[in-house]
Amino acid sequence: MLSYSELLNIEGATPDLLAGVADIDTAAQVDLDQAELNPSQVRSILEANGVDFSPRVIAFASLKGGTGKTTSSVTTAVRSVDYGFRPCLLDLDSQGSASLALGVMPKDDDDVFVDIWQKPGESLPRALIEHSSGVSLLPSSLDNSLLDVQLVNPGAQKSAVREVCSTVARERYDLVVIDCPPSLGTAVISTICAADVIVIPTNSDRFSLKAVELTIQEINAICETFGLILPSIRVLFTKFDKRLRLAHDTLEFLSVRYPAELISPSIRTSSEYAKQLEVQKTVFAGRKKSVAREDYDHLVRELLGVKVKIADDSPADTRSGVF
Ligand SMILES: Nc1ncnc2c1ncn2[C@@H]1O[C@H](COP(=O)(O)OP(=O)(O)OP(=O)(O)O)[C@@H](O)[C@H]1O
Ligand SMILES: [Mg+2]
Repeated sequence: MLSYSELLNIEGATPDLLAGVADIDTAAQVDLDQAELNPSQVRSILEANGVDFSPRVIAFASLKGGTGKTTSSVTTAVRSVDYGFRPCLLDLDSQGSASLALGVMPKDDDDVFVDIWQKPGESLPRALIEHSSGVSLLPSSLDNSLLDVQLVNPGAQKSAVREVCSTVARERYDLVVIDCPPSLGTAVISTICAADVIVIPTNSDRFSLKAVELTIQEINAICETFGLILPSIRVLFTKFDKRLRLAHDTLEFLSVRYPAELISPSIRTSSEYAKQLEVQKTVFAGRKKSVAREDYDHLVRELLGVKVKIADDSPADTRSGVF
């Protein structure tokens, strides 16, 4: 749920924003940090103020492991619910980390991506798990490692994730978030063909910076091979530790190398992620303020275009053809 003060924190928001909700008594004395709006109230306020809820696909990918893909995808999906989105999280990593982060461990007979991609219209709806956060999850398991054998045909690679995303959109969802494995396997190739936005998380080390370059090259090469419009590519610096010189140098490097792609602000390092992971929650559980919560709130608003728009602002571009 979103607190009144979080709603008023949105770029362009004024106190008038609350006046649009019929059952809110704006004259009453309320604690803005405690009083909350449910997702449908938030959605109607945001829709009335120009926020675009048309379906989109956001993927988190990097060829390097451990950069923050799963943390970012799960946190983005969970927080999007508070802003009134209806998210579906596709866990495509056979490690199943996104599923585990939400406390979901698929049983042997539960369907994962490899079981449903050929006939998503029939099999996706019953494969989705409704999580208490409001996120619907397509879980993952080691079975998904068979994808590299199944998706050998380039035509299938191009369409597999796209078809699943189209089915998701027909099933009342308006946001698909994809957690990719740290590789350039077929699941990632297929995701690149489907995503409107690809976020590449990176840390300060040379390997993950190199992986940003390689991931961008691969996105370009795959889109050229398949004749697809490039998705929007964004770079996200995670685990930024302000005490380290290297972190500041990396930020400087990224802002020069990727001026248009770099997301600001960076995600600071925090022990909150590990703590919440222990209890299979995200940093948005409860109301406790933290840098982790603040950073991901910024990220989610940026990625989802959550800001109060002036009347003639045009809606955010999404890549055509997927939905
Ligand atoms: N901003 C942060 N501050 C501190 N720890 C973090 C932060 N972001 C992520 N972590 C921790 O870093 C570890 C790796 O994060 P995560 O699993 O999200 O990376 P990943 O890119 O999905 O890894 P993989 O490539 O193995 O799938 C996790 O233990 C996570 O809790
Ligand atoms: Mg991961």
